[in-house]
This record gives sequence, structure tokens and C-alpha cells, in this order.
Amino acid sequence: MSREGVGRSVFVLNGPNLGRLGSREPEVYGHASYADLVSLCESEGAALSLSVETRQTEDEAELIRWIHEAIDADADIVINPAAFTHYSYALRDALAQCTGTVIEVHLSNPASREEFRHESVVAAVATGTIAGFGVESYRLALQAIGRFRTSG
Ligand code: DQA
Repeated sequence: MSREGVGRSVFVLNGPNLGRLGSREPEVYGHASYADLVSLCESEGAALSLSVETRQTEDEAELIRWIHEAIDADADIVINPAAFTHYSYALRDALAQCTGTVIEVHLSNPASREEFRHESVVAAVATGTIAGFGVESYRLALQAIGRFRTSG
């Protein structure tokens, strides 16, 4: 994607169980559906002149391949690794290769939840983390990319 015109490319990547947003533990993750999340990312991306592509998978290997694809496309990344956040060193190693902006997002605030959610093994290789604002966490992440991009 050209850096002029449509703007910088951003992959919004979502890990396991996030496709079930809306019906999955709404008291924790809110009532917005995954389709709502995709349209929020698309409309916020358009408002910021970013070219946004949103994807979700249950599969760690697929998520890693998408990170490689983003690196090769010189795209920035907004990622909610879901439960992989807490234990996937493979995901961390993939994100460590990124030269663009990487923003870790969470709908909930993992720090205020069960102890196993307190550690993020990817946080140290992210540019920054936004958590606890429901689907608005993604809007804030895209706005951060619009304002503070580290490359391009
Ligand atoms: C989550 C928090 C994780 O602990 C959990 O495993 C998820 C969603 C969030 O967005 O709040 O699946 O990443």
C-alpha cells in the first residue's frame, strides 16, 4: 500500500475466541460483536487515512504467518493475542522482528483479572499496550499509530 493517498497499511490481528465477541462473556468483553469490531477498525482507519485489514484466527501458527506477512508488507500491527498473550514465546519472537509500530491491545484489563493474565510475554516487544477500554482499545491503538508511527 502506498504511503501517500490511502495511507499506511495496518494489520489488526486477533487471536483465539475473539471471533465470538458479543456472545463470549459479555460482562467481561462487552456486547459489541466481532463484526462491530471490524467495522470500527475500518471506519477509524478511513478517518485516519490508514489502510486497515482486520483478521481473526484460533490458530497460533496462522497468527505468526500473518505477522511475517505484515513485516514483509512493511505494515504496522495492532494485535490482540488473546490467551497467547500469556504464554506464546513463538508469537513474541515473531513480533520482535517487526520494524514498524506494534500495539498490543486488550478489551479487558488483564492486570485486574486472574493472576495468570497478569503477565504478557509480548509486551516487551510491543511499541505500547492499550487495555481495558473494550472495542475502543482498538480505536485508541489506531489513533496512536496515526499520531506516533515509528516508520513510513
Ligand atoms: C484478552 C485478555 C486475555 O487474557 C484473554 O485470554 C482473551 C482476551 C482481552 O482482550 O481482554 O482472550 O486478550
